Order: sequence, then structure tokens, then C-alpha cells
Amino acid sequence: MHLSRRTFLTASAALIAVPKRALAAPFVLRAEPVTAQILPPGDGTTQMLGFNGSTPGPELRFQQGDTVDLRFENTIGEGSAIHWHGIRIDNAMDGVPYLTQPLVEDGKGFDYRFALPDAGTYWYHSHNRSWEQVARGLYGPLIVEERNPPEVDHDITVMVDDWRIERSGEVIKDFGNRHDFSHAGRLGTFAKVIPSVRTVRRGDRVRLRLINVATARVFPLEISGIAGKIVALDGMSLAETQEIQAIMLAPAQRMDIIADVSDMIKFAFPTRQEPYEMGEIAVEGENPNPRGDDIANLPNARIARPAAEPTKLLNLTLQGGAMGGQHEGDDIWSLNGVSGLQDAPWQRFALGETVRIRITNDTAFPHGIHLHGHHFHEVAPDGSLGPFRDTTLLHRQQTRDIICVFDNPGRWLLHCHMLGHQARGMKTWVKVG
Ligand code: C2O
Ligand code: CU
Repeated sequence: MHLSRRTFLTASAALIAVPKRALAAPFVLRAEPVTAQILPPGDGTTQMLGFNGSTPGPELRFQQGDTVDLRFENTIGEGSAIHWHGIRIDNAMDGVPYLTQPLVEDGKGFDYRFALPDAGTYWYHSHNRSWEQVARGLYGPLIVEERNPPEVDHDITVMVDDWRIERSGEVIKDFGNRHDFSHAGRLGTFAKVIPSVRTVRRGDRVRLRLINVATARVFPLEISGIAGKIVALDGMSLAETQEIQAIMLAPAQRMDIIADVSDMIKFAFPTRQEPYEMGEIAVEGENPNPRGDDIANLPNARIARPAAEPTKLLNLTLQGGAMGGQHEGDDIWSLNGVSGLQDAPWQRFALGETVRIRITNDTAFPHGIHLHGHHFHEVAPDGSLGPFRDTTLLHRQQTRDIICVFDNPGRWLLHCHMLGHQARGMKTWVKVG
């Protein structure tokens, strides 16, 4: 494994000569308080949580087939645990306190060791009191490179987030207030993108790995200065590349774009008035040998077509919240009238079972529903198999079917990734195998 260039440059020169695999001696990922420059340079700083001195935490970058071997150390003053979002992971390493591992108390650690079967764009984040710990900065990118990656001049991770902070930079400490929990969640007062590369050349080919790490906000995004294709969603390559238009990312969703740079790359959040500027990647100089070739499908697409017809059709109805969400659950939100984790799973599946789940959003808010340990196909309105995702966005009153092959044994969460909704009832679990 190696760290991002940014982090790597601060490592000692001696380390640079060490072959990648020799670095495996447990790498420590330490959760700790950090001071972050979230507002523009020169404006106030923000007291956050982070990993190894920064939020986002260090970019963990591996190759497909590698094994992650690291020690998590918790020094944030309360319990935590790390979830490796989107990885087809060994259940014991999934990082869900009480379901897959004990809570890691303050001052304690946990060893995470797991294989990376699939290339793609993933992320890691706290999975304890996540509506607050993730909002306070406990997340970072986890990139798994293809063994034969497409050639690009820059492979750029772009974290997309918002923060609820004062103009001074100080965090507004109203975490977990009832209004947020029962409405759209903790929406920020300030939003920006955090790209891992600050400058490119005109004519460069770039890969942008967008990751929405916000706890609640669905980001529509407009990206100017590039022409190219969407090549992957939630880490999984698309069977056919798609045109870049009307980008919409729910919390936890990812999108990979490969594109050629024609001008400064600008990220904007469209609003009814002026678009809100989210940041940019500057252009300096000219690539003397721009690539002329077409942008092809990503290699190594995981073959994930369900082999069998679904054995079951299940209904999952999202209920609750403010503005008339009636339901039987005993908290603000529910799934099929049940709030929160019960002792028994919502469903038990035989290992390898193919299941169709009809998700109906019977609330006044959008929800991004995430299944741990698996990807599933969204079923398109015409009945065809759509993208292979781990988080699916349902707008208010929308219904969507997904088809999942439950081929990873264990106890897996299924929850809303609007993390305040998850905290107040919109979660359940399934047992596979
Ligand atoms: Cu990214 Cu259960 O979460
Ligand atoms: Cu939700």
C-alpha cells in the first residue's frame, strides 16, 4: 500500500526507496482531533476530527488483489470504529460496532486486515455516532487501482462535502438536533470540493474520482472545463461509458469520470440563482502530446450479472419523518414500520441467493439507501439492469427496484446514508449464509 502523493512527500526519504509491499508493517490510522482549514486560506480554521493529522484522512491507495493491513487507533475521546464503504469485505472487518465488532473505546485500537477483490473508488468513515463523527471529519478516500488502469495524466480524488460552520470557521455544535433528524439532516452552511491535485495542463487526460462524503446533502454538480465520460459509479465500472450530464450524488455515492482538460476545471452546485462555486483545479501550461483516443470502458469490470432469476420479491418501504410520515416504528424513521436494529435480521438469505427488492420512499425527503458488503443492480424503468451500486438514491415518493446477489456471508447493515436518518431508525440488517 502507499499513501497519496501529498502525504507521501512528507514521509522520510528513506521510506521512498522501500518497495511498496515492505510498507505493510502495520500502518497506523489514528483518529484524533485536528485543526482544519475548511474556509479559504486566510479565513478562520475549524476544530475537527481527522486521521493522522488531517481531515479528510490520508488517501489509502492499493491495487486490486492487495490486502489491507492496518491498525486503527482511537484517540477522539469516545468510542468509534471504521467502515470501509463499498468493499466486498470479510464481514468481521466491516466496522459496524455491535453487529460485526466491539466498539473501539477511546484510547484503544483495532486491527483491520482484509482483501480487496475489486478495483474502484471507495471511502472509509466512522461507523459510530456517525451523524456526528463523520460530520466532524472522520472519513477519507480508499482507492483500489486496476491492475491495468486506463492511462491518464492525473488520477484525482475529489471529496465533496459541506460543513455547518460559522463565518469564523467555528463548528455550529447543534449535532443531533431533532429538526435535522426529522427533516433532511445536517445540511452545511459551506460546501466545497477537496481535489487531491491542484493543477493540471490543458490537454491532459484526467480521472476524477468524486466521493460525496456529506452526512446529508445530495449534491447536484456541474463540472466545466472538461470533455469526457462517466466510467464508473460507486466504484464499479459501467458496462458502457455515459455522457457527463446532470450529475447527482447522494451521500456516500461515488462517480469516476475520465475526461480531457480544455480549461480550468470548475465544480459548481447549481441553484435557482447563481451556481454556488465549489472549487476548481487550475490549468497551467499545455500538454504537448494530448491523447486523441476515445475514452474506453474501464478494464476489469467485475462480472456481476445475476446468474439466476430472483427467488423473491421483497418490499422495503421507507417511512417517517416530518410532514406527515405516518408509521408504526418507535423512532422518527422506519423501514417497513420498524425502527432501528432488531435482534433478528429483517431477512435471511441463502448464500448466493438472488433477490429483487422494491424500495418505496413513502416520505417527504430523499434517502440514499446503502447495503453493506455487496453491490446491487438498480433496475431501470424499462426493466433492464442499470448500474451496479452500493447506494441508491430515492427521491420523495419514488419507487425503485434493485436486484442483489447475496453472495457475501455475514451480518450486513442496510440503512439510509443520510446519517441522521440512520441514527433515528432508518436501518435494518440482513443475514447471508
Ligand atoms: Cu458508508 Cu453503513 O455506511
Ligand atoms: Cu434517509
